[in-house]
Amino acid sequence: MVETEVTADPSRRAPYAEALERHADSNPISLLVPGHGANAEGISAGLASFVGERPLQLDVTPLLDGIDLGANSNREQAEKLAADAWGARRTWFLTNGSTQGNRTAVLAIGQLGGDILLQRSVHSSIVDGLVLSAMRPGFIHPEVDYRNGAAHNVTPEAVSEALDAHDGVVKAVYVVSPSYFGAVADVPAIAEIVHAAGAALIVDCAWGPHFGFHPELPESPLRQGADLCIMSTHKLTGSLTQSALLHLGDTELADTLEPAIERAFRMTSSTSESSLLLGSIDVNRRDLQHSKDEIQRSLDALRAFSERVREHGRFSLLFDTFGEFPSIVGADPLRLPIDISATGLDGHTVRLKLMREHNIWVEMATQTTIVPMVGLGKCPPLEPLLEALDAIADANAASTTPVDAALRLPSTGALRMLPREAFLGNTELVSAEDAIGRISADSLAAYPPGIPNMLPGEEITAETVSFLQAVTQSSHGYVRGAVDAKLTQFRVVAE
Ligand SMILES: Cc1ncc(COP(=O)(O)O)c(C=O)c1O
Repeated sequence: MVETEVTADPSRRAPYAEALERHADSNPISLLVPGHGANAEGISAGLASFVGERPLQLDVTPLLDGIDLGANSNREQAEKLAADAWGARRTWFLTNGSTQGNRTAVLAIGQLGGDILLQRSVHSSIVDGLVLSAMRPGFIHPEVDYRNGAAHNVTPEAVSEALDAHDGVVKAVYVVSPSYFGAVADVPAIAEIVHAAGAALIVDCAWGPHFGFHPELPESPLRQGADLCIMSTHKLTGSLTQSALLHLGDTELADTLEPAIERAFRMTSSTSESSLLLGSIDVNRRDLQHSKDEIQRSLDALRAFSERVREHGRFSLLFDTFGEFPSIVGADPLRLPIDISATGLDGHTVRLKLMREHNIWVEMATQTTIVPMVGLGKCPPLEPLLEALDAIADANAASTTPVDAALRLPSTGALRMLPREAFLGNTELVSAEDAIGRISADSLAAYPPGIPNMLPGEEITAETVSFLQAVTQSSHGYVRGAVDAKLTQFRVVAE
C-alpha cells in the first residue's frame, strides 16, 4: 500500500507512485494511449485476467498533468528522494535496466573526449556503449578464481598500473562491484587513484542496489567516491523487472558530468517509459528506507543458513574463499554461492536437478558452484535446498565425477580498430581457421565467467579461437555472441 497521508518525513512518501494512484482512483475516461484504456473491457479482458486490472489503471503514458509534467513534478521529487537515499547528487530512473544505465554512462563520458579504461569483465552493455560513443578502451584485468569459474574484482594496484601504462588521456575508469558472486571491490581506494589521475570512476553496481541500506551491508559506492553508479533495483531489492537507477555522485566532476548524462539519457530512454516500472522504483526506495525489521530478519536468516551449511560440512561456501583474493574487501550476504562438488556432479547438472526434481530454482551455476540469491527483506525456506543437495549427492554417491579444472583464459588480441568502426563497418563471415589474424566485428564471451574474450576491433588469435571452441565443446559452457553454437564461423571486418 502506498502511504498517502501527509507526513513530515518526505522519505516515507512515494510521490510518483502516489500520483499514479490518485489518477487511477479518479476513474478517468481514458481517451489516450495505452490502448488497453486502463480497464478490463473488450479486448483487454484477457490481459486483465493475466495481470489483474489494477496494473492497467496504473499504466499511463508519460507527461500527464499532476503526474510527471512541469517543474518539480512528482517524478522529479521521486528521483530526488532516491538520490538522497543512495547518497547521490542526482538520480535518473531507468526502464531498460542497468543495460540502459551502462550505455548511458559510456555515451556521456564519450562527450568528454579521451579514452576509457574498463575492467575486462564488464557487462556487454558497456561494450555496446563503446560502439555508441566511438571511445577507445583500455583494460584492467580482474582476479579470476579459475577453479570455480568466477571473475572477481580489480585491485587498486591493477587500476593504478593500467592508468600508468595507458598511452592516452583517460577520462573514466569503469569497474564492477559487487561481482556476480557477491565480491565487493575496494571502491574508496580505487576512487582515490582514479581521481588523482583526473578521471571519473564509474561503478557498475547492478548487483548491489541494497548497498548502504543496513549497517551489515556494504556501503553504497556513491558514499565512497564513485562519480557515476548504476544499480539494478529489480535484481535484489524488489522493484519490477527492467527498472534500475543511474546515479551521479556528489563529486568534483558532477557539474561536468550532469549535462552529458542528461543528453545521453534522452538518447537511450524510450519516449514512452513504463509508469509501472517507474512507480515500482519509487515504492521500492521508500520501503528500503523504512523496512529495517524485514531487512534484519532476512540478513539473520541468511547468516543462520550459512552457518548451517558450514556445520553440515558436506558443501562449502564460495565466500569463505574470498580472503584469498586481494581484490575482494567484502561480500554481499544476499548471495549464497555454494560449492557442490561433493555431489560428484557439476554445478549445471545440480542446478537442473534442483529445478526438475525438487522445484527449487537457483540463479546460476558454474562447474563447481550453484549461486542461489535471496531478495533483500525476504526469508524464503532454505533448508529444503540443503536437503535437496543431500538427496542429489546421496543418489550419485556411487559415481563420483571428478570436477575438471576450468579452462584458463586466453590473453586478449591487440586492439586494431575502434570497436565502433569494427561493429559498423563492412563485415563478412569466415571459417574459424581463416578468422585467425583478422579483426573481430563482434563481442564474444565464454560463460562462465563471462569475461569478453574478444571485442569488436580486436585481432582474433589462434589461442582465443581454440579456447572458445573448447568452451563450446564442454558440457555446459557457451559463448555469448557466437555466430553458431559450435563456433565454426566468426564475423570479421571485411578487408
Ligand atoms: C554486472 C552487470 N551489469 C549490468 C547488467 C545489466 O543489468 P540489467 O539486466 O538490469 O539490464 C548485468 C546483468 O546481469 C550485470 O551482471
